[in-house]
Amino acid sequence: MRSLVIRSIAAVGAAALLTLGTACSNEREGSTASTDGKGFGKDALIGVALPAKTSENWVLAGDLFTNGLKEAGFKGDVQYAGASTTVADQQAQISSMVTKGAKVIVIGATDASQLSTQVSQAKEAGATVIAYDRLITNTKDVDYYIAYDNFKVGQLQGQALVDGMKAKKPKGPWTIELFSGSPDDNNSKVFFDGAMEVLKPLIDKGDIVVGSKQTDIKQTATQGWKAENAQQRMDSLLTSAYGGKKTLDGVLSPNDTLARAILTSVKGAGKPVPVVTGQDSEVESVKSIMAGQQYSTINKDTRKLVAETINMVKSLQKGDKPTINDTKSYDNGSKVVPSYLLPPVIVTKKNAAEAYANDPKLSPLTK
Ligand code: BGC
Repeated sequence: MRSLVIRSIAAVGAAALLTLGTACSNEREGSTASTDGKGFGKDALIGVALPAKTSENWVLAGDLFTNGLKEAGFKGDVQYAGASTTVADQQAQISSMVTKGAKVIVIGATDASQLSTQVSQAKEAGATVIAYDRLITNTKDVDYYIAYDNFKVGQLQGQALVDGMKAKKPKGPWTIELFSGSPDDNNSKVFFDGAMEVLKPLIDKGDIVVGSKQTDIKQTATQGWKAENAQQRMDSLLTSAYGGKKTLDGVLSPNDTLARAILTSVKGAGKPVPVVTGQDSEVESVKSIMAGQQYSTINKDTRKLVAETINMVKSLQKGDKPTINDTKSYDNGSKVVPSYLLPPVIVTKKNAAEAYANDPKLSPLTK
């Protein structure tokens, strides 16, 4: 799938500087939200359609939405798409939320480009549609986007890869491999583009060599974000490009689940552990980082993202416009979607204790 997101780094930088007050006035200019300013009942039905549990963040999000919506007085309908027929499942779940009269539908899209019919039904029924973490493409019927800044995630991953390799082996050239996420997730290209913004100039200069020469996102993709697909690809790259004593210095991995699969493959081939990036701060990866295996991850605290999404729902309930802080960066091919972007944080062994200080689950792992 061709990604339709047009990113402007300057826009993100500027967005980060916006105060809440200016963010609101900005939003008034840019938004085409469906709410008529009257709000809706305090105990309204709020639908949350999440993708399959392809990483820990989605597992956490489900419980946080269920409890958070209940605490706020809403009726929550939280659904996950099934592991195999994810697209059809999610389409049916959203349609059913519309039929049941949901006032807001929060969607973590399983396939960015396959939901236009369902979000259009939602709009016709008067519901507000919020794209959560993953943008929904090719439709005007998305009111808001809320996510950690995913382009920034990619940039941080690319920079961590370079820093980690330099720390281990001060002089290049460094040999690496590139992995990206599932092609149906709009984020995959955003992460990859962010990372390549850092890596491509170094590849062009010859400071970094991609051992397999596979630099196109189509070659690096991991269908379904599945660990076994990343492991298989790494196995075959090791066989085809790293025979004999050849080693690799680093691997760009878009998330933690894939990072661990890549490490399993490299270790299985008897090669030294390369610098491997990640994302999501999954428990097993934080342990791996502390044990000096995986190099980095990204902290995108799901508790915060869900809380901010519920804040958006509360504003809509009152008939207010929700706070947004970016009206330029996320063009979904039909419109620039008014967004609320949170800042992601890079985590290595060095800053893990500090980064997870307020996370009761992860903090003990860093001691
Ligand atoms: C999320 C990542 C996650 C991936 C796989 C992406 O859309 O932003 O945090 O690792 O999906 O579930």
